[in-house]
Formats: sequence, C-alpha cells, structure tokens
Amino acid sequence: MGINRDHIIILAIETSCDDTSVAVLLDDKLVSNVVSSQIIHKQYGGVVPELASREHVKNIAYVVKNALQDSNCSTNDISAVAFTQGPGLLGSLLVGSSYARGFAFSLGIPLIAVNHMKAHVMANFIEEPYPDYPLLCLTVSGGHTQIVQVSSPYDFKLLGKTLDDAVGEAFDKIAKMLTLTYPGGPVIDKYAKDGNPNTFKFPLTNLKNLNFSFSGIKTAFKYFLNKELSNNQNFVKENIHDLCASIQKTLVDMLMIKVKQAIQITGIRTITLAGGVASNSLLRSRIKELENDSDIKTFYPKPQYCTDNAAMVAKCAYYQYLNKDFASYDTHSDPNMNI
Ligand code: KG4
Ligand code: ZN
Repeated sequence: MGINRDHIIILAIETSCDDTSVAVLLDDKLVSNVVSSQIIHKQYGGVVPELASREHVKNIAYVVKNALQDSNCSTNDISAVAFTQGPGLLGSLLVGSSYARGFAFSLGIPLIAVNHMKAHVMANFIEEPYPDYPLLCLTVSGGHTQIVQVSSPYDFKLLGKTLDDAVGEAFDKIAKMLTLTYPGGPVIDKYAKDGNPNTFKFPLTNLKNLNFSFSGIKTAFKYFLNKELSNNQNFVKENIHDLCASIQKTLVDMLMIKVKQAIQITGIRTITLAGGVASNSLLRSRIKELENDSDIKTFYPKPQYCTDNAAMVAKCAYYQYLNKDFASYDTHSDPNMNI
C-alpha cells in the first residue's frame, strides 16, 4: 500500500500483561491483529511480572513486523502509533510504551496513549453489528471486574468494581485448588458442561452497591474442599464435573445480580461483555437470556477479542485520533490508571 493520507491507519501495541499484541486498523476496520501469548508462565501457575517484561522485549519487534506484513502496510503508511498506557504490569507496559514512543517519534507522527479498560469495552466495536450508546459493559478478566456506563467513545463512567479479587482470579485460584491447569477459567468452563450446577451450594457475596467481592467465595470453597477431602481423598476426582458446574454457577450468579441491578438503576438497555472471562459459556448464555424478558439488546466480542489484544487498543485509539487526543513523546506508563 502506498502513502494515502485519505485514510487513517493506526498501528496499536498492547503489552499490559503477558500477551504481546500488535494490530493495524485501516479507518475503522481491522486489517491485522497478531497476538503472541507467553507460555512460560504456565509452569508457575500465574504470570511472573519479571519474565513477562523480558518476553515482551524478545517478541515485540517480531510481532510488529508480522502485523505490518499481514496488513500490507509499510511504516510510511501509518498515521499514528497507539499503545496501552495502563493499567497493567509496569515492566510489561514500559516495553510497549517505549517501543511506541520511539516508533512514533522516528516517523514524526502522533502518539496515542490508550486506557486498557476502555479498550476492553471497545472490543465490542471491532466487528459489526456495533452496540448502540448508551451501553453498560461488564468487564471481567484475571485482573479486573467492573461495570462501566459508556455514553459515547469518549464518555466512560465506572459504576462498580471488585473491592478485592477479580472474578478471573477466583476462577484460577479455585481451579488450582481442584488441581486443574492454569489458566483455570477455561478448564472449569469445560468440565462444567458435563456437571450439575445445583449439586453443591456456595454462599453468594452480594454487596449493597454495584461493587463486587470474590475473596469470600474463594475462602468458603477452600474450607468446603478441605472438609470433604478429609472424609474422602478422591472427592475432587469423583465430583470434578459437578464441582466445576456448581462453582461456575455461583461466580456467574454473583456477576448477573450486579448486571441486573445496574440495568434497573440506569435504565440502559444495551448490555455488553468484555475481558477474558467474557468467553465463559454460562456467562454468555445468561447475558443472552436478558433479551428474553424485555427490549434489552446484548453483545459480546468473539473470544479472541475478549482476551488481551491490540485490535481493541487500535479501535479505542481510532476515536482518540478523530478527537485529536494525542500524547507527548515522553508520556509515562501508568500501572494503576483508572477508567
Ligand atoms: O483478559 P484476560 O485474557 O487477561 C487479563 O487478566 O487481563 O483474562 C484472563 C482470565 C483468566 O483468569 C482466565 O481464567 C479467564 O480470563 N478465562 C475464563 C474463560 N476463558 C478465560 N474464565 C472462565 N471461563 C472461560 N471460558
Ligand atoms: Zn485485559
């Protein structure tokens, strides 16, 4: 592709956690999205921050090259370079921001700093049909659990969030107690398909406002399991499907209670999902069921756009580009950035 200033071409870089990802957006259409996931963390049962940043350093140039090749674009075609500013692991964020800053500076083109949590929401706008505004988004991942009200691509309001663990972390920690592999969420989802969700009952934590808490259920599950194991060493093996189905139902119930409350409070009828846990099959079907009762419309991204990816960063950056929301070449990473 030659230089064409009639088009907006954005190269976006995502390195907030353990996925090195680069996407190219031509106007508002995605033309490439390359994700290199770091398998090194599997043996440790969770992401090791030091190793994550080192892996990003190893991968970044190669992932940028592949994304450009897939898009048939050259560096001279690019209108702006976007990167994830935060929240995330500082060492990981610094790799993407340093690369993006150098890239934009050397080409003399705008730099766009993107909020990772806004980008997750914008994953719902990668492929049509797009949801209408205003919308509610339940963003659920290994690091975050929040409900956001979005009135436009520029207007995000946090309605509630977890006060302790994220729901993805609860899935992963409970999976670990069940001696399942990491990340545990998808494994619980898989085993749950052949289980009875009403076999075991666990206490639901339901705070008065739109905030969540998942530390109590983790502890309750641990005590329950220890008690059962003291009577029968094979308890997990003999009940794995029912255990997964029951705990999955409990976690999804806790999410759905807050989604329904948020709908009641705001009156908003467009409901979306985002983040890694948005791939959960029970959560997807329970969200879809909301459409049965009323004029509610629901949306969730394809699984590849639920987990961390640069396509969602590019889409967020596209609206920032239209708004001329550019960052200076010395912009800092912000590991605790709020939405
Ligand atoms: O968004 P993500 O890829 O990374 C961040 O945490 O930012 O989310 C990863 C989380 C993990 O906790 C993983 O167990 C969970 O998403 N997850 C799932 C499913 N697929 C991924 N949890 C439940 N069911 C799934 N199908
Ligand atoms: Zn994320």
